[in-house]
Amino acid sequence: MGTTPDRPPFWFMRQAGRYLPEYRKIRAEAGSFLDLCYAPELAAEVTMQPLRRYGMDGVILFSDILVVPHGLGQAVDFREGEGPVLSALDPDQGIGNLRLDRMEGVLAPVYEALSRVKSMVPAETAVIGFAGAPWTVATYMVEGGTSKDFSRIKQWAYGDPEGFAKLIDLLVEATTDHLSRQIDAGAEVVQLFDSWAGVLPPKAFEAWCQAPVAKIIAALKTRHPEVPVIAFPRGAGAHYGAYARGIKADCIGLDTVVPARWAAAEIPSAVAVQGNLDPILVVVGGSAMLDAAAEILEVFGSRPFVFNLGHGIVPNTPPENVAALSDFLRDWRR
Ligand code: CP3
Repeated sequence: MGTTPDRPPFWFMRQAGRYLPEYRKIRAEAGSFLDLCYAPELAAEVTMQPLRRYGMDGVILFSDILVVPHGLGQAVDFREGEGPVLSALDPDQGIGNLRLDRMEGVLAPVYEALSRVKSMVPAETAVIGFAGAPWTVATYMVEGGTSKDFSRIKQWAYGDPEGFAKLIDLLVEATTDHLSRQIDAGAEVVQLFDSWAGVLPPKAFEAWCQAPVAKIIAALKTRHPEVPVIAFPRGAGAHYGAYARGIKADCIGLDTVVPARWAAAEIPSAVAVQGNLDPILVVVGGSAMLDAAAEILEVFGSRPFVFNLGHGIVPNTPPENVAALSDFLRDWRR
């Protein structure tokens, strides 16, 4: 991402999805959400939809972080209005019969979708691959879905750190393979989503969020040194600086609540930053949205920076607000 010298590049997390009528149409035809993720032609089409409307500088593959546990052999289901439901791992059984060697076969359609996307986008548009970070993916695997208090996984991690490390280590390997295969299929940038990085106390954050992500990045850099890695530790708060210095990512994603000036001082200037407009401002639109975007650009616009939201676009976002934001970002000049 970087053929736009006069302004920072931009894309939006969850830029494909339910706020777009053309997405809802294909989603209804595809059957289940996972069916859509594993239908290469449809997944590629859905990936392209926001690019056609808004001309972002990057497209993120349409897929989900939970295809990795599915590929490892866990039952994963997306229920309407309920979110993801998984057959929760039992800490007493450990990683049980999860198997790394079946993942490549299950996830082959994801890589095919990515190579289709690569052949469809113009050369100046970055193709972004992604995966969940081990801690965040583990929360879904152990809690059996979205959680309010993360009590089950925390009890495992705090009470049996050696047993829990086996799950995290498996996810480090699975995630490295999954991202590597996306790169082989044409991904030019990859992002690690650690959506639940903000729920752990300091030592546990270091052990279960920061260290595993550092391992994945180190492994990716030996295989694909030229591919930039973005790490998004949502909710990392006071840890952002140490995290940025510790993991050797090329770019750090900032969530909605991080004060921009604080982050600009805290994160080494050689590391790019990405973020961090509140997605709810895109629901509201107008000057509330554009003034906040301008402020972010003012703070970060003269360092390596990728404009994005602080979390994903929400389903009730008016598509015309995304258009107005995209126009504003495209016309902005340093
Ligand atoms: O950003 C993109 O446009 C690419 C596609 C993408 C999806 N999920 C599609 C999706 C990406 C990058 C993700 C990442 C993801 N998935 C995360 C990390 C980012 C974050 O939001 O914190 C997480 C935690 C998940 C797990 C997940 N997938 C949940 C909790 C849900 C249900 C909540 C919801 O929004 O419905 C999903 C489903 C999901 N993933 C949808 C989409 C478009 C909605 C499903 C549908 O269309 O029915």
